[in-house]
Amino acid sequence: MKYLNLNITFNIYQYEELNESDSKLIDKACEMTKHSYAPYSKFYVGAAALLKSGIVVTGSNQENAAYPSGLCAERTALFAANSLYPDYPVIALAIAARNTQGFLKKPIPPCGACRQVMLETENRFNHPIRILLYGTEAIYEVKSVVDLLPLSFDKTAMDI
Ligand code: THU
Repeated sequence: MKYLNLNITFNIYQYEELNESDSKLIDKACEMTKHSYAPYSKFYVGAAALLKSGIVVTGSNQENAAYPSGLCAERTALFAANSLYPDYPVIALAIAARNTQGFLKKPIPPCGACRQVMLETENRFNHPIRILLYGTEAIYEVKSVVDLLPLSFDKTAMDI
């Protein structure tokens, strides 16, 4: 038997430690929770994608009475960014979430499907996305979705 250990790396920040660009991106994600349509879960998620051009494209989760028809904030933002600006890499993505009590204390962990879409976006532009996961007690920064999705499936897995 062999043993494989895949390491992932996070930086942990307090809000006050962030540079202006990152705190602004997180503020946008927090603001976007107000645009969330989440009458079923009452879990309000906002995302803000920074493009290489400096443009920020935002998204929020959009639910549906037919539950699987809804979409997470991260994918809403990334699909909007990629549709509107197909030539600009996404270089950073901030995510924030609140429930009926307020913003989450711990950093919001993106769902698996959103991680997969982040990976596709990275690969499409051949550019890592720095991901900022907001919590009131801490903010996690990962330098690439590779750290959120080890042993991932991408087009190279289909190579024969
Ligand atoms: N949600 C997101 O928008 N992003 C995530 O990363 C996790 C979950 C949404 C989907 C659904 O509208 C609600 O949060 C509860 O799962």
